[in-house]
Formats: sequence, C-alpha cells, structure tokens
Amino acid sequence: MVKPAKVTDATIEELLENLKLPEYRTRYRTKRELRARDADEVLAKLKPWVANLDKNDANYEHNLLEGLWVTWGLNKIDKDLLTQLLQAKDFRARTAAVEVLRYNGHQIDNQADLLMQAAKDDNPRVRLEALVAASRLGKDIGIPIITEAGKKGLDKWMERPYEAALAHLNGHRAGEKPKDVIETDLKGKDLELLMAGQEIYERDGYCATCHQPDGQGLTASGFPPLAGSKWVTGSEERLIKLTTKGIMGPIEVKGKKYPGQVPMTPFGKLLNEEETAAVLTYVRNTFGNKASAISPEKVKEVREKIKDKEGFYSPEELLLEHPMK
Ligand code: HEC
Repeated sequence: MVKPAKVTDATIEELLENLKLPEYRTRYRTKRELRARDADEVLAKLKPWVANLDKNDANYEHNLLEGLWVTWGLNKIDKDLLTQLLQAKDFRARTAAVEVLRYNGHQIDNQADLLMQAAKDDNPRVRLEALVAASRLGKDIGIPIITEAGKKGLDKWMERPYEAALAHLNGHRAGEKPKDVIETDLKGKDLELLMAGQEIYERDGYCATCHQPDGQGLTASGFPPLAGSKWVTGSEERLIKLTTKGIMGPIEVKGKKYPGQVPMTPFGKLLNEEETAAVLTYVRNTFGNKASAISPEKVKEVREKIKDKEGFYSPEELLLEHPMK
C-alpha cells in the first residue's frame, strides 16, 4: 500500500516535493491544494524549486512540466518555463507545453508565433496539438498555422482534426462544402422550412443528384434547371403535383425543349407533407429564385385531391390544369 502523501496542512515546500511522486492522483490533489494557497508565495518558492531540479533525473522534464502546471493553476504562467518546455527533448513534454499555450493566450502575447513554431515540430503529436490550438484563434491567425502543421505530413491521428479545424474556421462542418448564405426575406416558420429543405435537397438520390447542387440541371442527361424555372416559382399546386407523382414527357424549361424521355422520381411516398413543403420552399427561394413558401397544409390539401391519380404527370396535362402565367 502506498503511504498517502501529505497534502492538507503541508507546507508549500512539501507540496512541491509531492510533484515528483509517481502517483498521478497525488500530484493532482497537490496541484489543487497549491491553487488554493497564496499565489505570490507559491511562485516565490517555485522558482528555486525549479532551478534546483536534478537535470540528470530521467523525470527532469516531467518535473519541469509539473512546475509549469502549477503556474497555470495560479493563472500566472511562467513564460521562461513555458519557452523551455516548448523546446523539451521529450515530445510529450513539448505537446503538453503546447496545450498550456493553447489555453493561455490571454497571458502570452506571442501565442500565435509560438504555435507557428510548434506547427513545424518534427513530431506529429506536437503538430496535432498546435493545429487544434490554432483552430480556436479565428481564420486569419488559425489557418496559416494549421496548414503549416500539415506540411510535414498528416498521420492517421491528425487527418480528421486537420480537416475539422479547417472546416470550422471556414464556417462549415468537416466533409461539407461551405454553405452559401441564402439571402431571403422569409421569416419564422417559413425560414425553418427553407433551412430544413436544403438538407433534403442535397440528400443522395433526391433533387441535387439530378438537378445538381447549384440547381442548374444537366441538359445532356435531360435534367432541366430549377434555377429561374417558372415550374418552380409559379403555381404552388402544379409544383406539389409534379413532385408528388413525378413527371415525364416533352417539357419546355426557360425556353429550352427537353424530349422528356427521362422520368422524374415521384416523391409522394419518399417525402411526407412537412418534408415536401420544406424542399419546395427551398427550391423556390434559392439559386436566385424568389417565391412564396409552401406550407405543409397546402401539400396535404393538394395531395388529397390527387390521391387517386396513377402514374407520372405529363407536362402537357399539368399545363392544362395550371397554365403557365
Ligand atoms: C431521377 C432524377 C430526378 C430527381 C431525383 C428529381 N428530379 Fe425533378 N425532374 C427530373 C426530370 C428528368 C425532369 C423533366 C421531366 C420531363 O422531361 O418531363 C424534372 C422536372 C422537374 C421540375 C419541372 C421542370 C423544371 O426544371 O422546373 C421541377 C420543378 C422539379 N423537377 C423539381 C424537383 C425537386 C424539387 C426534386 C427533389 C424533391 C426533384 N425534382 C428530383 C429529374 C429528377
């Protein structure tokens, strides 16, 4: 059994000596205790303690690090100690020093420069810590540090954080393209529909697959554009009908004729009323389109009317019911 170290009622000197003990928990409780002591007094005693550490001790850099952590605990980082540890021989000590740097920008005015140096470290673990720290510093400061950290190569532990850090600073999630800001006057419930609609539009096999992410369609494959199309911004009822049952047959969109041999998926069973309202509100208000939001109640009403219709709509049939204005 380990003899419990003296923490409560220990002198500052005794507490500092505790920091050399092998038990993590003891060192942790000791640092907590030191945080509660008078900061100036602790710092005054820490200086000689650090200076007298045995440089030949295999734990030398670890002991230095404990000293640095004490100054962090008092919110008075010892910058000399930090600088020394950023140059430590042991990459784990350098990594830990970068972590201290990460949380203490308010005390270290050359934080960005020091992180940039760490981003050039030979050890990927140090570079990882540097790039994670940089991801909190905003685009202008963060991105150059992150890309620097990537220059010596990304190991498998760095790949995801690297991607996530860059995405975060560019205002989107990892693996997603930056979101175009949709300019719209829609508000409240309508705006919520629009936002939800974007996700549906982009789902694999839904609209973007054929009409393309930018709504420009793919003429060669017979997919007409949604951007600037009156089929989109015109009659709500016509749009709900074609989305619910699908559409096939010769069609004219923006003055261009499509032979209509490719059918459009009927979404009646794939999207419920709320989702249909969302995706249609989205296509009516993105890619430069501007039209009223479509409510789930309206979708419900139209779907009720056409529930017995079988097969695709043809453009011709729809135009008879709802002539193009
Ligand atoms: C499988 C491919 C495919 C998918 C998925 C698809 N469409 Fe279509 N869409 C087409 C084709 C093909 C036409 C033209 C049909 C014709 O020629 O009659 C069309 C026509 C249209 C039209 C009328 C013409 C125009 O360009 O304005 C609208 C509006 C429309 N689609 C909206 C949507 C919406 C909204 C979604 C997602 C919920 C969607 N489409 C998903 C293939 C697709």
